[in-house]
Amino acid sequence: METSAVRHIIILLLVLLVLRSSALGQNQIYNVLNFHAHGDGKRDDAQAFLAAWQAVCGDQRTAIMVVPAGRTFLLNQVSFQGPCKSPVTVQLDGNVVAPNHIWTRKSANLLTFLGVDDLTMDGNGEIDGQGAIWWDCYNRKRCDNRPILLGFARCNNLKVRRIHLKNSADKHMTLFQCSQVSVDNVSITAPADSPNTDGITVAFSNNTYISNCSIQTGDDCVSVLSFTKNVTVTTSRCGPGHGISVGSLGRSETAMVEQITVSNCSFVGTMTGVRIKSWQGGKGYAKGFLFESLNMTEVQYPIVIDQFYCPQGNCPRKHGGVAISDAKFIDIQGTSSEHEAIRLLCSQSVHCKDIYLSNINLSWVNHTAPANATILNAHGTTEGIVLPRIQFSNTL
Ligand SMILES: *[C@@H]1O[C@H](CO)[C@@H](O)[C@H](O)[C@H]1NC(C)=O
Ligand SMILES: *[C@@H]1O[C@H](CO)[C@@H](O)[C@H](O)[C@H]1NC(C)=O
Ligand SMILES: *[C@@H]1O[C@H](CO)[C@@H](O)[C@H](O)[C@H]1NC(C)=O
Ligand SMILES: *[C@@H]1O[C@H](CO)[C@@H](O)[C@H](O)[C@H]1NC(C)=O
Ligand SMILES: *[C@@H]1O[C@H](CO)[C@@H](O)[C@H](O)[C@H]1NC(C)=O
Ligand SMILES: *[C@@H]1O[C@H](CO)[C@@H](O)[C@H](O)[C@H]1NC(C)=O
Ligand SMILES: *[C@@H]1O[C@H](CO)[C@@H](O)[C@H](O)[C@H]1NC(C)=O
Ligand SMILES: *[C@@H]1O[C@H](CO)[C@@H](O)[C@H](O)[C@H]1NC(C)=O
Ligand SMILES: *[C@@H]1O[C@H](CO)[C@@H](O)[C@H](O)[C@H]1NC(C)=O
Repeated sequence: METSAVRHIIILLLVLLVLRSSALGQNQIYNVLNFHAHGDGKRDDAQAFLAAWQAVCGDQRTAIMVVPAGRTFLLNQVSFQGPCKSPVTVQLDGNVVAPNHIWTRKSANLLTFLGVDDLTMDGNGEIDGQGAIWWDCYNRKRCDNRPILLGFARCNNLKVRRIHLKNSADKHMTLFQCSQVSVDNVSITAPADSPNTDGITVAFSNNTYISNCSIQTGDDCVSVLSFTKNVTVTTSRCGPGHGISVGSLGRSETAMVEQITVSNCSFVGTMTGVRIKSWQGGKGYAKGFLFESLNMTEVQYPIVIDQFYCPQGNCPRKHGGVAISDAKFIDIQGTSSEHEAIRLLCSQSVHCKDIYLSNINLSWVNHTAPANATILNAHGTTEGIVLPRIQFSNTL
């Protein structure tokens, strides 16, 4: 054969090789089963998951860690740490289950993602916290530190899609010091009487978008804590649970919360609908709220601002408070199960300012008497129909 023909063939083979490896190389796939995970729901697969994570996180190419469908993986506290070499996807098609016993060591999260940028978690899998023994232990005042199910800390550009979270010992998902987060189509379930099993908690974070979620738990469906800016919760369903809450704020920290939107959501049988709560004597601010297009069904207190938050009911009177301002409540319909559908209870020393209500129609379920509203030290305006009628404290 002529040397030029040989050269041509070699070049052709090289081109084919490059094409093939780049097609594969688009998404490197690491299945946890190839890292000796058992997936029998009995033996701890934490080491296998960590080994798979090391491979995924260390890959220069975009990589996927696959948790395959049809299996259940027992995991006993795993921390997945970044930074990673490139964007990472955790494809959770199978299920993860927590051990069904109380851990003696101080509890961290069941699963933690720490310092991982450009992370996507997607799939139809379920993470089950087996919380019942922990709730019981907590109720008997024996367990103060319970593990959070899924904690994200210092993750920028995070996407969480479709997964199911259930029966966490404590809160289900926490976002701490994260930014550019979207949580879409996630469902979270725990019994209505399970203690402190909040759905999604956002703190010290910026730019969080929660959409198409269904959250049914024993505490807040979503809670927004201090040092948090720009959170949207939209097209989601809440209940049972305590509603979508901002706070409690100002217990020890100087509160900083702004630009919070809750829109197009339904609340069914919850304790509150939308709520801003702060402790007496707190410092700082909470401002820029939009609560719009909400449907309340038998919600105890659909609209609440409470600057006297005191869950144990034994708080001394204190001067000062977190300054709450610019809160708009627009297009909120449905029923309350308590007489008092609207409660705007603001501090004598730091009044609530720029409150706006428009197109509100809340009725007291199964009662011919109309719902009522209690307003204390709140200033603002109404437009259009507002039922129950409210009377702002506009003269200082
Ligand atoms: C959020 O934004 C503020 C400035 O607006 C910044 O100081 C803070 O570091 C940001 N937090 C995160 C978690 O990105
Ligand atoms: C997620 O999307 C699917 C398909 O649109 C839908 O059937 C399911 O109800 C959604 N889940 C939630 C929690 O909304
Ligand atoms: C608020 O956050 C969303 C993402 O969650 C982002 O698209 C939007 O630009 C942010 N808005 C501002 C004013 O920063
Ligand atoms: C919410 O769900 C709808 C219907 O499935 C979908 O079109 C939309 O993109 C989802 N929203 C987000 C932010 O992903
Ligand atoms: C409001 O929510 C309903 C489902 O509850 C959805 O079909 C609709 O697209 C949402 N509208 C907007 C503007 O997001
Ligand atoms: C509000 O929710 C109730 C009960 O879930 C439902 O019957 C009603 O159609 C909803 N209203 C709107 C405006 O979505
Ligand atoms: C209101 O009446 C409906 C229909 O009879 C019933 O299902 C519901 O439990 C009642 N709600 C309350 C809070 O009494
Ligand atoms: C509203 O209803 C509650 C509970 O029935 C009652 O204690 C309160 O006095 C009422 N407030 C007004 C302004 O009627
Ligand atoms: C308020 O809602 C009730 C119950 O849905 C309805 O009967 C009533 O007509 C509404 N009132 C106004 C002013 O829209």
